[in-house]
Amino acid sequence: MPEPDHRARTLGSEAEAAFRSEFGAAPALAWAAPGRVNLIGEHTDYNDGFVMPFALPFYAVAAASKADAWEFHSTFDGGRTVRPGSLGGVEGWAAYLAGVAWALNESGYEVGPARIALHSDVPQGAGLSSSAAIECAVLLALAGLHGHDIARDEAARIARKAENEYVGAPTGILDQSASLLCEAGRAMFMDCRDLSREQVPFRLEDEGLTMLVVDTDAPHRHADGEYASRRADCERAAELLGVASLREAPDGAAVGDDRLDRRLRHVVGENRRVADTVAILKGGAVAGIGELLTASHVSLRDDYEVSSVELDSAVDAALGAGALGARMTGGGFGGSAIALVEAAAARKVETAVAEAAAAQGLPAPRVSAARPAQGAHRVH
Ligand code: GLA
Repeated sequence: MPEPDHRARTLGSEAEAAFRSEFGAAPALAWAAPGRVNLIGEHTDYNDGFVMPFALPFYAVAAASKADAWEFHSTFDGGRTVRPGSLGGVEGWAAYLAGVAWALNESGYEVGPARIALHSDVPQGAGLSSSAAIECAVLLALAGLHGHDIARDEAARIARKAENEYVGAPTGILDQSASLLCEAGRAMFMDCRDLSREQVPFRLEDEGLTMLVVDTDAPHRHADGEYASRRADCERAAELLGVASLREAPDGAAVGDDRLDRRLRHVVGENRRVADTVAILKGGAVAGIGELLTASHVSLRDDYEVSSVELDSAVDAALGAGALGARMTGGGFGGSAIALVEAAAARKVETAVAEAAAAQGLPAPRVSAARPAQGAHRVH
């Protein structure tokens, strides 16, 4: 078991303190689970395709003890405590906690009432998987309290079940697997058909490179109709092609409908770009993936139509200022972009991104440098 991430340990102490002050005793345990960026492989997960996320050093922590009734406390949302009489119909942030407990029970891992204090520094609404981080931390905490030893890929499926069936967001499995399975210093190449995976070394600093994460501060919503309608397009295209999923669609496949054919071209091309990215990274030439990142963005913008004016502004400005590659990351319609830059050019790119947003009257983006961090682990 690797050592807790430094940041996760700090958050763990803060979560423990919050638990003590709210519930008057120390928690039995605490688990931390991170947010993520997806390096490449977007809108491929629900098509049984390839993804390549890495964990960010931002964590949600769930500190927990068994109790006679459910009590959910969070340090955000004004430090509120929610005491649902049962696991049904819980809303807001507490829905993620109730949903995970419900999904565990549904999956045969019985869990009884607990007190949970939740603490997180994963930016919310930034497309960096703050909700998956909460789900995964809570899942591991509840499993730990009840002595369930759940394999990480199964845990990802259970957390996704909470998101899909309880919270009601029709996502794939990218975010939960990233939070549970990623490793420090690596990007995780995963086949979403069977969750088989390979941890590929991704040490930017050895190459004098930096990965900037640009949170555009534009609201994003993937529980809404657009995400679901992309899924429906993919299912329809697969049906017309007579394949189980677009993963099986051959290069150049077409169904004779302009919109569906563009969705199809994105998914087929994106899977190939993930495979090419893995090959380049294994060859040790990290800078060489820049063009693939940018090609991914263009495809998401033009063929899949999930980008936004804020994301396009950030990507164009980063490239204009010398980034080696840039793309939106996550579901799109707002959220965050990433840019691969020479470390020496990071400041220049950051300034260009900020100036471009200001010139168009867009919200001021928040830029930070990402390092691939440790996936979910126990911190107390
Ligand atoms: C969101 C979803 C993921 C995935 C991405 C797009 O982040 O939660 O399951 O579909 O969008 O790649």
